[in-house]
Amino acid sequence: MHLQCHIGTDTLSLHRLGGRVTGLDLSPASLAEARRLARDVGADITYVESDVHAAPDVLGRAAFDVVYTGIGAVCWLPSIDRWAATVAALLRPGGRLVFRDCHPMLGTLEVVDGRIELVYPYAEHLEPLVFSDTASYVDPDDHSLPGLPSHEWSHGLAEILTALLAHGMTLETVLEHDSVPWVPLPGFMSPHPDHPGEHRLTDRPERLAASFTIVATLSH
Ligand SMILES: C[S@@+](CC[C@H](N)C(=O)[O-])C[C@H]1O[C@@H](n2cnc3c(N)ncnc32)[C@H](O)[C@@H]1O
Repeated sequence: MHLQCHIGTDTLSLHRLGGRVTGLDLSPASLAEARRLARDVGADITYVESDVHAAPDVLGRAAFDVVYTGIGAVCWLPSIDRWAATVAALLRPGGRLVFRDCHPMLGTLEVVDGRIELVYPYAEHLEPLVFSDTASYVDPDDHSLPGLPSHEWSHGLAEILTALLAHGMTLETVLEHDSVPWVPLPGFMSPHPDHPGEHRLTDRPERLAASFTIVATLSH
């Protein structure tokens, strides 16, 4: 199960690794692109349009061996506890969550007047952060988007781990990485020398936790 699968590129990778894969997303436009991509390469992938929190009702409880999600996923969701409950409901006993996402430490930062500043909350907050960007991470220099408001939430690393534990997950792996597969702090990041497609701080990259990987198993 690939939650918040967007245009299905990672879904396709999971299929190529041998999985029987279902991708789920809220956006019909993203799913149309994901279906086109799968059709073009002859991949048999099921795509489902749904809010992530409705997934257990739409697709079945305890239905999946693996839930994979991340790379810009939980920042769109208000409650990490509700998300963890959803993941646990989707997994069969012994099933596994594989989750790599933006680190909440990186989420606090923004480039302001040529400096990196601590701007946004680290811990979860009730009211969303509202952005009306005309550019996206796909091309920060292309300002052709209409600037519609988007709502985002932070979730601290301890809040994420606590939520998973509270819903019966056993932690197998918790890693913090200095890089992400986009350029969140323009002007301050360079390609990672060892990981193609990943970017990290140019100067002393060990100062920043940019992303994390969590692997957790649903207890029997
Ligand atoms: C940045 S993309 C994730 C990209 C994905 N990791 C990839 O590699 O292509 C975030 C996705 O989350 C979806 N999304 C946001 N809120 C959602 C929700 N409540 N339920 C389901 N999908 C949601 C968006 O439609 C979008 O496709």
